[in-house]
Amino acid sequence: MFTCAFYCIILLDELKFSLAVVQLRVSKIKADNLGRAQKLVKEAAGQGAKVVVLPECFNSPYGTGFFAEYAEKIPGESTRVLSEAARDCGVYLVGGSIPEKDGEKLYNTCSVFGPDGKLLVKHRKIHLFDIDVPGKIRFQESETLSPGNRLSMFETPFCKVGVGICYDIRFAELAHIYAKKGCQLLVYPGAFNMTTGPAHWELLQRGRAVDNQVYVATASPARDESASYVAWGHSSVVNPWGEVIVKAGPEESVVYADIDLQYLADVRQQIPITTQRRNDLYSVNSVQEG
Ligand SMILES: *[C@@H]1O[C@H](CO)[C@@H](O)[C@H](O)[C@H]1NC(C)=O
Repeated sequence: MFTCAFYCIILLDELKFSLAVVQLRVSKIKADNLGRAQKLVKEAAGQGAKVVVLPECFNSPYGTGFFAEYAEKIPGESTRVLSEAARDCGVYLVGGSIPEKDGEKLYNTCSVFGPDGKLLVKHRKIHLFDIDVPGKIRFQESETLSPGNRLSMFETPFCKVGVGICYDIRFAELAHIYAKKGCQLLVYPGAFNMTTGPAHWELLQRGRAVDNQVYVATASPARDESASYVAWGHSSVVNPWGEVIVKAGPEESVVYADIDLQYLADVRQQIPITTQRRNDLYSVNSVQEG
């Protein structure tokens, strides 16, 4: 009897956990960015967060002109700080992204560390943002970055998590495959701008969440009007019903949400799209092995 009650409590406990999103203010001084990231991860863990997410390009200003200068190998200075922070605080740390240098190539890379400080997965942004609207705007990530070629998921005692970076969120197939492979939480460090932010940032998160009946968390750098690239901010967490359950403003802050896997199961039972798909008529599949 006692054993059962004890077991049930553990089980209930693991169906719910606190997630923190750190909307970091990113300056041109790398050491300063790393120091504040470390401090805010600690603050989040102190508030009970088990999973903490940092923004895209958290150690460097965002922009093709900065990537080479701020790029590091992995492991390197920035990921060592992340590994230590994860271990010291006992959290799963989704390390936003940093410009990664590997040989002659640069990637936009998210490293995820477990509570023992070990690297769990490294997601290199798979969809690079290249636009060229003649007479208007030209921004080509691929002039400096190479794309990643792998999907990235990791396990926690609570649930499986899928990782994407910024523009990756626009590709519904990726989110769908993560959900199909058992992810109940998708995390996207990202930096939308002052045009795409108000237009699509929340819409895309709600879309990915409601399509797949998963939690979706995004982490943006805080808005800095004086930066060459002005990020929208508004890091958020959306639940499997498509509701925004927490949303930061534009400034530096840490926001928290409860990820409730029983609630996720309830939503899937109420609207059974996961079991009523017509796999005989259509399907979305990963062509990656494993
Ligand atoms: C943001 O990006 C969009 C999409 O590429 C672009 O059209 C727009 O001009 C950019 N806005 C700002 C404020 O930089």
